[in-house]
Amino acid sequence: MPKLAFFGFCAVAAAVTVGALAQGNPPAPAYRPSLGDLMTMTVQPRHLKLGLAGQEKNWAYAAYELHELEESFEHVAHDWPKWRQVEIAETIKATMEAPLEAVEQAIKAKDAAGFTQTYARLTETCNACHQSANVGMIVIQVPKSSPFSNQDFRAQKQ
Ligand code: HEC
Repeated sequence: MPKLAFFGFCAVAAAVTVGALAQGNPPAPAYRPSLGDLMTMTVQPRHLKLGLAGQEKNWAYAAYELHELEESFEHVAHDWPKWRQVEIAETIKATMEAPLEAVEQAIKAKDAAGFTQTYARLTETCNACHQSANVGMIVIQVPKSSPFSNQDFRAQKQ
């Protein structure tokens, strides 16, 4: 092997080795949010924002946020079909679908009183599952004010 080519080879080999060493840490295991994490990160804020949107009669945003809440539940059901002895996916399907649909109808009809009523029922359904899952100390209520001071929930003129 000509000298120059040999040094070139060594340089490449060294670079590859250093590169491999630099990546020496084993990859961190993927973060798998607990059911409580998903509830706190996705279901709770979306339930809250949906409530505020309805209170503001902001139907366009309420429709959007209802869809986000539905997706959050799909995610929960997918990742946590069962939690301890509780059939989470089945319970969501059996109990949440009708109240979510009722809220959707109220939003479509731009029916403020209907929203208040169906949203209250939706909220009771959150608590019904918490009670049946033995976490009845987690009590969800209709939001009284917004903790998201950087978001305007009022309907925008479009
Ligand atoms: C199918 C059952 C079920 C439904 C429906 C459900 N939850 Fe939960 N939720 C649970 C369980 C079980 C836990 C406890 C999970 C854990 O500790 O990891 C929980 C935990 C939570 C927590 C975390 C409590 C905390 O303070 O850290 C919040 C918040 C929450 N739920 C909000 C809601 C809201 C809002 C709804 C309705 C829009 C809802 N949940 C509907 C089963 C349910």
